[in-house]
Amino acid sequence: MGIAVRSEIRFILNGDVVHLSDVPPALTLLDYLRLQRHMTGTKEGCAEGDCGACTVLVGRLTGDGLVYESVNACIRFMGSLDACHVVTIEHLGGLNDRLHPVQQAMVDHHGSQCGFCTPGIVMSLYGLWLETPKADAPLIEKTLQGNLCRCTGYEAILNAARAMGDTDNGGDKLVVTHEAVRDRLAQWRDGSRVDIDTSGGKVLVPGSVDDLASILEAHPEATIVAGSTDVGLWVTKHMKDIAPAVFINHLNELQSITETPEGFTFGAGVTYSDAFSIMARHYPTMGAFWDRIGGAQVRNMGTIGGNIANGSPIGDTPPPLIALGASLTLRKGSASRTLPLEDFFIDYGKQDRQPGEFVVSVHVPKLPEGEDFAAYKISKRRDEDISAVCGAFRIALDDTGTVSTARIAFGGMAATPKRAVAVETALIGQPWTEASVKAAMAAFDDDYTPLSDWRASAAYRMLASKNLLMRFHLETQGEKVQVSRHDNALAEV
Ligand SMILES: Cc1cc2nc3c(=O)[nH]c(=O)nc-3n(C[C@H](O)[C@H](O)[C@H](O)COP(=O)(O)OP(=O)(O)OC[C@H]3O[C@@H](n4cnc5c(N)ncnc54)[C@H](O)[C@@H]3O)c2cc1C
Ligand code: FES
Ligand code: FES
Repeated sequence: MGIAVRSEIRFILNGDVVHLSDVPPALTLLDYLRLQRHMTGTKEGCAEGDCGACTVLVGRLTGDGLVYESVNACIRFMGSLDACHVVTIEHLGGLNDRLHPVQQAMVDHHGSQCGFCTPGIVMSLYGLWLETPKADAPLIEKTLQGNLCRCTGYEAILNAARAMGDTDNGGDKLVVTHEAVRDRLAQWRDGSRVDIDTSGGKVLVPGSVDDLASILEAHPEATIVAGSTDVGLWVTKHMKDIAPAVFINHLNELQSITETPEGFTFGAGVTYSDAFSIMARHYPTMGAFWDRIGGAQVRNMGTIGGNIANGSPIGDTPPPLIALGASLTLRKGSASRTLPLEDFFIDYGKQDRQPGEFVVSVHVPKLPEGEDFAAYKISKRRDEDISAVCGAFRIALDDTGTVSTARIAFGGMAATPKRAVAVETALIGQPWTEASVKAAMAAFDDDYTPLSDWRASAAYRMLASKNLLMRFHLETQGEKVQVSRHDNALAEV
């Protein structure tokens, strides 16, 4: 029997159930809200996921419940919202027409001047308030990494965030409706496929991973859309036609994380936010590293599979995952194959992926006992910036302190994420000393010929990479390496 097919998406917008069949692939949630629903509380600042003015909450089903996360409506497509609950600033307010505690705190602490960023900031803080009303300063700053305010200065906003847990408004709408919404969304997740032909092209939402495989066999030219934190910009900045578009962000089978004694397997659809706790707990430096990918909204949407599949030479996850020895599993039709992650990246813009093939998962081995590992990101801004250079190091020593294994990988140094094979070779068999490291630093010139661009010059990239190796060495010796707040590694060591 064939799969059931629908020609509409179903979602909840604040308190209303919506059935929508006119869903062009490139229709963003922000345009839908502002232009079709005339809900203008949600603002457009940058239209590229950077400023957070468009922040809304999206409630989505996870394995064991319903979670509300902040997302950027400007790069979120309507086709990705089937069986979701969209919550905008218009929905905020106490149960009895009083201001919500987050709003009240922003008023009390003068957190708004021109007000343009304010709805987005309030929605980010609302997402935090739902989980942790009395958050500490680091968590508040992490929550607001993706919200830019030009007028107020952040102190007033941070004061409001610190105070929001102290106000009682007599209840919250999302808390009250939680179970009913979860049940409604679960009822809609019936395994059917959405297939809509619109004036802007075809939208497909598979009912399962098997259905995704069938759809991609029939439409190998389709654009796979996961978190849309890359694809969104193809539309808003490059006016690219993404039809037919296949939305996969809802597929629970691609969102699983499984642990074995050897390692973790992350489904391609696992978001940065969902992977955070494992990364932070099991791999040294990865908690801090992970927190510097995008802002909270981008981490709530963006997936590990999307970061790998886009093949960018400056994507942040490939270098550490390659250094850890990760392998990638792809599927086309019913056939799957697995390859070392580094082999996936063939050349600039060219990956080892056939039309109709998709990334299923990435397997990341656990760090063996006694081995050292670190990943570093160098960018102009500390928060929400793309890497100029991203480097990851893993070494094992034998009983005599000699390097027995070295895996080093960099982004930003070549046309693809790439291992530093010459540096690894220069280290293996040598004592893990400052002198050996200094000697091995020269081998970077054999491994890489970086480019100069607006993020960094070739000379900067080369020097920074060499210095990161020395930094890694010093840190393995227990030294706290002094770097600027921006974590740049310019100073020669
Ligand atoms: C404001 C902002 C900040 C950012 N900061 C960073 C950063 O600090 N570091 C960083 O590395 N990146 C950053 N990015 C880029 C982006 O967030 C990541 O590359 C993200 O991981 C992409 O995942 P996605 O799920 O959003 O992919 P999408 O945009 O949905 O897709 C990206 C590409 O992968 C393909 N694809 C997605 N899933 C699959 C699959 N399962 N199988 C095959 N193909 C697939 C798509 O067709 C597309 O070609 C940023 C983006 C924005 C907008
Ligand atoms: S409008 Fe700037 S992040 Fe969406
Ligand atoms: S209050 Fe004006 S941008 Fe924040």
